[in-house]
Amino acid sequence: MYSKLKLISGHANLPLAEEVASYVGVPLTDIELFKFSNDESFVKINENVRGADVFIIQPTCRPVNDNLIDLLIIIDALKRASAQRINCVIPYYGYARSDKKDQPRVPITAKLVADLLTVAGANRVVTVDLHAEQIQGFFSIPVDHLYAIPIFAKYFQNMKLENPVVVSPDSGGANRARALAKRLNCGLAIGDKRRVENIDKTELLNIIGDVTDKTAILYDDIIDTGNSLIKVADVLKTKNVKNIYAACTHGVLSGSAVKNINNSYIEKLFITNTVPLTEEAASCTKIVQLSLADMLARAIKKIHTEESLSVLFN
Ligand code: R5P
Repeated sequence: MYSKLKLISGHANLPLAEEVASYVGVPLTDIELFKFSNDESFVKINENVRGADVFIIQPTCRPVNDNLIDLLIIIDALKRASAQRINCVIPYYGYARSDKKDQPRVPITAKLVADLLTVAGANRVVTVDLHAEQIQGFFSIPVDHLYAIPIFAKYFQNMKLENPVVVSPDSGGANRARALAKRLNCGLAIGDKRRVENIDKTELLNIIGDVTDKTAILYDDIIDTGNSLIKVADVLKTKNVKNIYAACTHGVLSGSAVKNINNSYIEKLFITNTVPLTEEAASCTKIVQLSLADMLARAIKKIHTEESLSVLFN
């Protein structure tokens, strides 16, 4: 059993870390984290962490490389300060989409990041909706993989949607969408998405499944440029779908994503707070952010007391 539970946040998502800390009932540990004028990062833990069970809350979202390096140096500082166990809570795992060598001479950056975290001294990773479940296997340390599905399912159940159907924008997300459809007790449709040139350029050819006269819930792990979902919404519109909603765990929302969503057939986009909202996204009336803080806090408390996490999936 671990004696002291400590929570540390980098700069990646302080509002989420503060919310988690208030649910756990433990204040964030005081640290100094800054960049020198030469752009090198520095961290100092201002409290004793010797023998502590430390949870670092740091999604590796934008600025991805800075947040990743900050996480690595916090781990290193904790290791050298004799923390007993170092748990990395990475609600959004950056580089997750670089998970296979699907072209000649490309890296598998998701695996490289797993190696960096492990070599730095991480003892465990807690994350949410990895782009691919298999990324857990990139680690040789325990990975607690949590899901936003219970939170979205509860929200949609409360909305009492008429005749819903869950739509996965591509076959890769079908299992995830099927799990939501099962919870909502409704049908599933799948977009036939073909990739053209690179990850940001995709072409949607058709929708497989019955969507006519239904309320579509587009469901994906990440919304980045928004292109994938907006293209599916365009096709759905031609198939007499009544309403179009979208739900994605990680609201990366880069480039003109918010503007494009505003101009799209998507009526509401539900995301979680794994990634902090930009000002533009926060002021967009189509975007609704649901909090995962309670779920993360419950996971942290259970990991600390060595209890099963299965209850969090219900
Ligand atoms: C791809 O396989 C992912 O699950 C997402 O569909 C994709 O990354 C979303 O990116 P974007 O919003 O740029 O289309």
